[in-house]
Formats: sequence, C-alpha cells, structure tokens
Amino acid sequence: MSLTMLETNSPVDIRATVVQTYRISGDVSIITLECPAIAALAKPGNFINIKVTNATQPLLRRPFSIHNVRGTLIDIMVKSIGAGSTLLCETSVGATVMVLGPLGNSFDQTDDKFHTAVLVSGGIGTAPMLFLEKKLATEGRKVINLIGGRTKDDLLSQNLTNCRFATDDGSSGFKGTVVDLLRSELPDLKNEGSLKVFACGPNPMLKALAHFCHEHQLACEISLESVMGCGIGICYGCSVEIKAQDGGTRTILLCQEGPVIDAKLYIA
Ligand SMILES: Cc1cc2nc3c(=O)[nH]c(=O)nc-3n(C[C@H](O)[C@H](O)[C@H](O)COP(=O)(O)OP(=O)(O)OC[C@H]3O[C@@H](n4cnc5c(N)ncnc54)[C@H](O)[C@@H]3O)c2cc1C
Ligand code: FES
Repeated sequence: MSLTMLETNSPVDIRATVVQTYRISGDVSIITLECPAIAALAKPGNFINIKVTNATQPLLRRPFSIHNVRGTLIDIMVKSIGAGSTLLCETSVGATVMVLGPLGNSFDQTDDKFHTAVLVSGGIGTAPMLFLEKKLATEGRKVINLIGGRTKDDLLSQNLTNCRFATDDGSSGFKGTVVDLLRSELPDLKNEGSLKVFACGPNPMLKALAHFCHEHQLACEISLESVMGCGIGICYGCSVEIKAQDGGTRTILLCQEGPVIDAKLYIA
C-alpha cells in the first residue's frame, strides 16, 4: 500500500444540527449531527472539523474522527480534554455547529489480501473503529478488537464486537499495553487466517505498534494524531515526519496525506 492509494474526498462545509447527545463515561460523549452531504461521502478513517460554538472563542475548529454513519446522521465520540471538546460535550440537542468534512484520507478500501482485521485502539483512539468495523463486516471480513486504556474506566467498546481488553493497571483484561496484548494474542490470532492490523490511539502507542508489526511482518495501517489548526492544508500546524521511500525522512501535512498512513512509514 502506498500513501497515494489512500483516498481523499472533496469536503463540504455545512451548518449541522445536533440531534442527540449522550455521555458514555465520565468524560466521553457521543454527539449525533445531522449532516447528509458529509454522511454521503464519509469513509472510515475520515474526520470532520467542527466550529464547536457560534461564539468567537475557541476561534479554530477542532478535528474529530467519524465514529459512525447512520443514514444522514454522523456520530462522533468526544473526550472532554479542553475548552473546545468540553463545549461540544455540553452542546444541547437542537443547537447548530459548522462542520467541514469529510477530511483526510481513509483506511485502505482496496486491500483484499487479508481475511481477519485486527482493530487495535487505545483510549479515545477507539472513536473511528465502529465505522471501520461495520465497513469491514459488510465486506465479509472477520473483525477482532483489541482495546487498551490506562484503567477499566478508559476502555471504550461501545457497540464493537469481539473485544479483548488491556489496561495498564490490570483493572480489566490483560495487564499491560494493547501492543503487549497483541503480542500475547498473536499465536491465537494467526489461526484466523491472514491478518491485517488497523490502529488508532496515542502516537507513542502507534510507534510501538508499527515496530511490532514490522518485526512480525504484519500489514498495518495507523491513524495518527496531531494538533490541527485548519484541517485543509493552510496552517502547516499538522506537520509530521515520516519515513520516505528512499529510507530517509519526509514531512507530511497530516490533514492532507493522513491521518491514516502505512505503519511501515512510522518506524524510526
Ligand atoms: C484526525 C484527528 C481525529 C481526532 N478524533 C478525535 C475523536 O474522535 N475524539 C476525540 O475526543 N478527539 C479526537 N481528536 C483530538 C481532538 O481534536 C482534540 O482533543 C481537540 O481538538 C482538543 O480541543 P480542546 O479545545 O478541547 O482542547 P485544547 O484546549 O485545544 O487542548 C487541551 C490540551 O490537549 C492538547 N491537545 C489538543 N489537541 C490535541 C491532539 N490532537 N493531540 C494531542 N494533544 C492535543 C493541547 O496541547 C492541550 O494540552 C482528533 C484529532 C485529530 C488530529
Ligand atoms: S491542519 Fe492546517 S495544514 Fe494541516
């Protein structure tokens, strides 16, 4: 897989109505937005850029992965970590927000060289996995979720199937990181036929996973994170250094050539 094989979309900017909002844990909410034009174009791995309030501050839009598409509706899973995400989690049903999307590339839709998809996610990185799992299931793939968190309260498995868990403190499931869980499950997973790993989570987790998959010759795509000022290639705030084809390094704008990249390009 090369970066150019990962598809991009022509985004639209619309005023979307919040049609549902509910809290699934202490600091994480699912927000449902009516945005038919974006829902029609969305692919797993895409994100949307939301102006979280009609007031001036915060001025910049905030990026959120598309968690699920239901007809004309888009669900996002939002963790409250600062001003913008907190305002979004507290938005009332009936309010409107400006939404630009779908943005970024998607998990590879053309790769048919695997039987079982292993979705590896950590913390709020589980957000894009429901949409991806649904798409893979419609293609007849077996899907297994490996989900990590610091404690059991950080595990987000809402509506996902075949879940196995890891927590840093051992409060639920395997004690260790989700990459350690993959290491321990790999002999068993290899009985499921050819594997491909799809991942999203904190960048250090993705770096460790990229090394693990390289070592074990597992195909893997990762969805990286960065702070994003504009989401459309103007501010250069989302520069990330990745490996170049010639073995050196090159800088990409994650909002343009990401957020999904081949894990081979994320090995130091
Ligand atoms: C492609 C993409 C998809 C994302 N999808 C989701 C999602 O589905 N659900 C979700 O809850 N969040 C997601 N995020 C992260 C989300 O965009 C940030 O949490 C949000 O922008 C923070 O805004 P804020 O105003 O609440 O916090 P701020 O006040 O802007 O920041 C609070 C603190 O968090 C740090 N921070 C802000 N953004 C990021 C980031 N992207 N990575 C690491 N640290 C950051 C800041 O440096 C600061 O220390 C995604 C980010 C990207 C780039
Ligand atoms: S977020 Fe502005 S260039 Fe990528």
